[in-house]
Amino acid sequence: MSYVTYEQRGFVGVVTIDKPKALNALNSEVLGDLEKVVDAIDVDATRCVIITGAGEKAFVAGADIAEMSGLTKAEGKAFGKKGNDIFRKIETLPVPVIAAVNGFALGGGCELAMSCDIRIASENAVFAQPEVSLGITAGFGGTQRLARTIGVGKAKELLYTTSKVKAPEALALGLVNYVVPLESLMDEAMKLAEKIARNAPIAVRATKKAINDGLQVSIDEGIAIEEELFGSCFETQDQQNAMKAFVAKEKPAPFEN
Ligand code: HXC
Repeated sequence: MSYVTYEQRGFVGVVTIDKPKALNALNSEVLGDLEKVVDAIDVDATRCVIITGAGEKAFVAGADIAEMSGLTKAEGKAFGKKGNDIFRKIETLPVPVIAAVNGFALGGGCELAMSCDIRIASENAVFAQPEVSLGITAGFGGTQRLARTIGVGKAKELLYTTSKVKAPEALALGLVNYVVPLESLMDEAMKLAEKIARNAPIAVRATKKAINDGLQVSIDEGIAIEEELFGSCFETQDQQNAMKAFVAKEKPAPFEN
C-alpha cells in the first residue's frame, strides 16, 4: 500500500499525498512513496504534473513531528537530506509542476508547495513555517525557497515568527498564483495544467530549465543558458509547424512531441 497515488489524466499527471488522518504529514514512509511516484512519472507522455493532498483539511501539515522527535543530529540531517533530495527532483522535473494546496501547508508542506513551479490555493489554505517553535530550522529547503519566492525580509519574518499566512495574504505576498474555492481547486489546477499542455512541450521544458538554471547563476550566465535553450528549439517539428502555420495564416496542428 502506498500513501501517494498517481493518476494520468491525458497529458497531466496527478500526484496525491494520501494520509488524511495524519493531515498528510510526511514521515519517511510517505516521503519514500512520494519519491517512487515521482521517479515513475513518464515525462515523455506527461506535460504537466499536479501535486495535491487527500481530504479537505490539509495539503501537507509538515514533516512528521512524532518521527522527528527522537532523532539524533546525524539522523536529523539525514532526514532533511531525504526530503531535500525528493523536493529537488520535483523542482527539476523536466515538466512544470503545479501545487494544488487544499488546506494546511505547514513546514514541510509549505516547502513541498514551494518546490513546485506554480501554486494554486483553496480559500481555506494556511501556510506557515512553524519549525522554530519546535526547536529546529526549516529543513526541506524553506530557508532558501521562501526567501527566493517572497523576498528576504518577509521570509525572515515568517520563519522567525512562525506566523500563519491565510490564502488571501499568500496571494498578496506572491506565495500563490491564485486562490479559488476548495470545491473548484482541482478543476482550476487541471485547467491551468491543460493550458500549459497545449503549448510546445520542448519549448515549455526549455523555458522551465532556463528559469531554474538561470536563477542559480549571474545574469550573463543566465542569458547564455537561455541562448542555448532557445537555439535548441529550432529545427524541431514543434517550432517548424507552429511558425509555418503562423506565416501561412493557418490554424496550427496540436503539438505532438
Ligand atoms: C505528525 C501530525 C502533524 C505533523 C498533524 N498531525 N500534523 N502528525 N506530524 N506535522 C496529526 C495529529 O497528531 C493528529 O493525529 C492528526 O494529524 C490531526 O491533527 P490535529 O492536530 O488533531 O488537528 P487540528 O486540531 O485540526 O490541528 C491541525 C494543525 C495541527 C493546526 C495542522 O495538527 C498542527 O499544528 N500540526 C503540526 C503542524 C506543524 O508544526 N508542522 C511543521 C512540522 S516541522 P492523531 O493521531 O492525534 O489524530 C516540519 C519540518 C520540515 O515540517 C523539515 C524537516 C527536515
